Amino acid sequence: MANETLAKAKEAKNDEFYTQYYDIEREVEAYLEYNPDVFRGKTVLLPCDDPEWSNFTLYFAQNFESLGLKKLISTSYAPDSKKYKYPIQLTLFETSAPQYDAVKAKTNGKIFVLTRDKTGDGHIDHDDLEWDYLEGDGDFRSEEVTKLRDEADIIVTNPPFSLFKEFFAWIMESGKQFIMIGNKNCVTVKEIFPYFKDNKIWSGRKEWAGGMWFRTMNKDDVDKVVNGVNMKNVPSIWLTNLDHGRRHEPLQLMTMDDNLKYSKHKNIRGKKTYDHYDNYDAIEVPHTDAIPLDYNGVMGVPISFLDKYCPEQFEILGLTQFGCHDGFPDSRKYNDYKEYRTVDNKETGASGTKTNENAVIVGKGEKKTYYMNAEGRIVHSEYKRLFIRKKQ
Ligand SMILES: C[S@@+](CC[C@H](N)C(=O)[O-])C[C@H]1O[C@@H](n2cnc3c(N)ncnc32)[C@H](O)[C@@H]1O
Repeated sequence: MANETLAKAKEAKNDEFYTQYYDIEREVEAYLEYNPDVFRGKTVLLPCDDPEWSNFTLYFAQNFESLGLKKLISTSYAPDSKKYKYPIQLTLFETSAPQYDAVKAKTNGKIFVLTRDKTGDGHIDHDDLEWDYLEGDGDFRSEEVTKLRDEADIIVTNPPFSLFKEFFAWIMESGKQFIMIGNKNCVTVKEIFPYFKDNKIWSGRKEWAGGMWFRTMNKDDVDKVVNGVNMKNVPSIWLTNLDHGRRHEPLQLMTMDDNLKYSKHKNIRGKKTYDHYDNYDAIEVPHTDAIPLDYNGVMGVPISFLDKYCPEQFEILGLTQFGCHDGFPDSRKYNDYKEYRTVDNKETGASGTKTNENAVIVGKGEKKTYYMNAEGRIVHSEYKRLFIRKKQ
């Protein structure tokens, strides 16, 4: 229970990560490169924002004309409703406005709208944003924000991490186009993975390696300080259903023979052949760049393969996870096995059911544990694997 409370508090702190302008600009440019009119005539909604200083609002407002937007809507969440409290400085922009209300400033969300050249300076940009308080606290699940979602064509945001699954479902039920940030591991969640498998959503332009740097409000968990701003590195990725060029670039690969001879990975180079799983009719490929070009059967690859996935080159069949490989079933369970520590061959007390549905290989592996049955048959399980096959 204490652990659960701690985890919840940690998640809530992670809700207050703010995206850098550069990351938004670089990501959006990839969709524009692929289709320069992708935003033309469109209404863009930025939910879960803090429009006075959100870089999402800044980017889309400053580029309103060049993107050809019809309307930009940005909404924020009420300070009193935030799970992680930090001192909020009301901006002069808010306190000097005629609609300023000291109570609503804490209890209500805000809506910012951009459609016209309010200032009359000949341009539509950040200075032309018009704002008011929302009726409620700006929760994306509220009726009023859901209505805005339904009005929009494209939804762009970095949603609260603690509500990611709910936010994702909220987006998917709308059927709208979207660009959003999520944690790398979200791709293996059983409510999310099927959309990847069916090519309904995919990884955005930015490569997965290196994670992403965010401004953080949690001063107790900071990775670096840049110009006085607290920054945190998070293993985040962009998810989208908007097309971009990188996903259509096939991976450059070597044949199986060449991998076995020349691979830079020592767990491939020098082997006689790739390992075959004990419980799936597939071979183990521990690195995406070690996928053999000339293998036509099913392969188990790390989930980071999705970063390099080109749907014209491969198809995805499933994932080693309960409920995610229905179309590619396992052939064996390990209920009569026990778990052992590799370092001293002592029992951990856990049963082999722990490895059911993982990708399992005969023999001890490189992981900290392995499994053995009463006959002394030894197996180990790999990390999460995606099952893929070359497009025929
Ligand atoms: C990860 S931050 C990202 C903020 C902004 N989109 C950005 O990237 O700069 C998520 C934001 O969603 C807000 N939030 C938390 N719960 C929310 C909810 N139920 N509805 C709407 N916003 C929420 C948080 O307070 C936080 O400001």
